[in-house]
Amino acid sequence: MKRAIYPGTFDPITLGHLDIISRACNIFDEIVVAVAQNKSKKPMFNFEKRIELVKKAVEDYPKVKVIGFEGLLANLSDELEANTIIRGLRAVSDFEYELQMGYANASLKKDLETIYLMPSLQYAFISSSIVRAILTHDGKIEHLVPEPILNDLKV
Ligand code: PNS
Repeated sequence: MKRAIYPGTFDPITLGHLDIISRACNIFDEIVVAVAQNKSKKPMFNFEKRIELVKKAVEDYPKVKVIGFEGLLANLSDELEANTIIRGLRAVSDFEYELQMGYANASLKKDLETIYLMPSLQYAFISSSIVRAILTHDGKIEHLVPEPILNDLKV
């Protein structure tokens, strides 16, 4: 049973995240999408809402479980008995942050492996922060977020 963890703040989940989840499903038997509480980021959507939105977005993905977590990812990987972390890599601008996080996790747990997946080019520009910025100005987000959560974001 190959299990991988896909961690993130998911504030909110986007089509880019969903594309990474689909790709991970082609490689692993089970994907645990782990929504971080990440209070320090002061998310737009609260912890419970972010978990609920991810759950709704992945309803048609039988290999995917969704959980919330607080604390270190390295500890979560112990609890879940999963030593593979999935992260999406869109552009060079993501690289520095991802590299630092990957090394930090590896320094905490030697056998923790991070695998980086590229989204389709059409999703490469999408980020949760772009979605939040557009939402703030009542702009259209249909092309950026999973269809099942569209109405939840608009209200
Ligand atoms: O979607 P994000 O905000 O880029 O995800 C960042 C996340 C949640 C993966 C990262 O903040 C994280 O792993 N938080 C848990 C705390 C932790 O383990 N920190 C040490 C590694 S930097």
